[in-house]
Amino acid sequence: MENTHSPSSSDAQAETYDAIRSRLSALILPDTDWIAAMATVACELHCAFDDFHWTGFYRVISDERLQVGPYQGGHGCLDIAFGRGVCGTAAQERRTIRLGDVASFPGHIACSASTVSEIVVPVMNNEHRLVAVLDVDSDLPNAFSDTDQAQLEQLCEWLGQGWAPV
Ligand code: SME
Repeated sequence: MENTHSPSSSDAQAETYDAIRSRLSALILPDTDWIAAMATVACELHCAFDDFHWTGFYRVISDERLQVGPYQGGHGCLDIAFGRGVCGTAAQERRTIRLGDVASFPGHIACSASTVSEIVVPVMNNEHRLVAVLDVDSDLPNAFSDTDQAQLEQLCEWLGQGWAPV
């Protein structure tokens, strides 16, 4: 499968995200279930980029807890408290966290010892409530560019506004 993440390929990367968005728009319909929508997003992202080695969602299941949702890759930890690890911190602070090297983040939870870089993007619903985070891990250093961050944030906004429960 084509890997579009070399530093010189940001145009190709943007084209890949365009293609993903177009497939998702055809697959995820107004009456699509929220879990099915997350599963389809995880699949599309994971299959499009060779350097996305774990791609999926943690859902907010109570005020202070995340639980693993649809994902692709090896098993992830099942529960993460707000404030713990990269996912719990992104959830608590409602902000994207992008790490070129996970070792630089104190408290990073290593679901896989091979993970080197990671990005976590909050998913807010149309009442501005946090409903999930998208987590992508890579075994390569600095796998996530500014383009990835912008595109993943746009995708999470689209998903949250259209399909997340209120
Ligand atoms: N690394 C994450 C945990 C989730 S797994 O990577 C799938 C974290 O520190 O929150």
